[in-house]
Amino acid sequence: MPVILYNGDILEKDKVSISYEDRGYYFGDGVYEVFRIYNGHVFMKEAHFERLKRSAAAIKLGLHYTVTEIDRWIHQLLELDQLKEGIVYLQLTRGIAPRTHTFPHDIKPSILAYCKPLDRPIVHVQKGIRAITLDDIRWHRCDIKSLNLIPNTMAKQEATERGVDDAILHRNGTITECSASNILIVKNNALHTHPADHYILHGITREVVLRLAQELGIEIVLEPFQVSELLEADEALATGTTTEITPIIEVDHNPIGDGQPGKITRQLQAAFELEVGKC
Ligand code: PDD
Repeated sequence: MPVILYNGDILEKDKVSISYEDRGYYFGDGVYEVFRIYNGHVFMKEAHFERLKRSAAAIKLGLHYTVTEIDRWIHQLLELDQLKEGIVYLQLTRGIAPRTHTFPHDIKPSILAYCKPLDRPIVHVQKGIRAITLDDIRWHRCDIKSLNLIPNTMAKQEATERGVDDAILHRNGTITECSASNILIVKNNALHTHPADHYILHGITREVVLRLAQELGIEIVLEPFQVSELLEADEALATGTTTEITPIIEVDHNPIGDGQPGKITRQLQAAFELEVGKC
């Protein structure tokens, strides 16, 4: 029977009960992380914990639990579920209190975590995906990994209903990121991506890819780029914990480059594979 961590207890999944007064339920008042598990090991664990701490601090949520405690629970879940390939989903909400917008400071956050088997996105990674561009209607703190994901889910839903794989978001023509991943383009052998500011999630896979690019001697340009530049790019790629490095081969029905995953994308994928192997 799969298990779940809830407020310090590890229970069978169907034994957990959650209060309707949890502020996560009323307000989406909380933060989360998705950790990738390769061969039973947590990929880039410290970076995920650092981001969790930053997200929590940004919404004035005291973690209440130490990273060591959370880490121990994650390892217990992995062991009990015997998970080798998949993800760990972890969320912290502000806790349980009667519904008012202001939040009491003396409530204990609710912590929930579980593992889920997940295959690697082999087909997407090999063949690439098709996407549409949509208005980025999110707030201006997209660097916080908050539970409020309605604009992201709506964007992904619209992409799916329009028969493509994902939505690429832009603010007045400036590309930010995809519905659940970061985006990079290649133009004249240089890798361009939005700087890590308040308009994008500071993706951990994006960071890994930028480090690998640097090691490979690929020029990196951390500057916002426009929809028109995306359409004229030689290559485009999405990065994320579940996305890994996925080529974007078509945007708004226009092929990117020659409509096939590009040379630099392939180089980065090969380097990423070595990182996964080290995990
Ligand atoms: N999403 N941008 C957004 C909006 C995301 O939701 C994600 C990840 C990323 C990539 O970040 P990272 O490389 O750290 O996974 C970028 C997760 C996987 C999710 O919500 O399921």
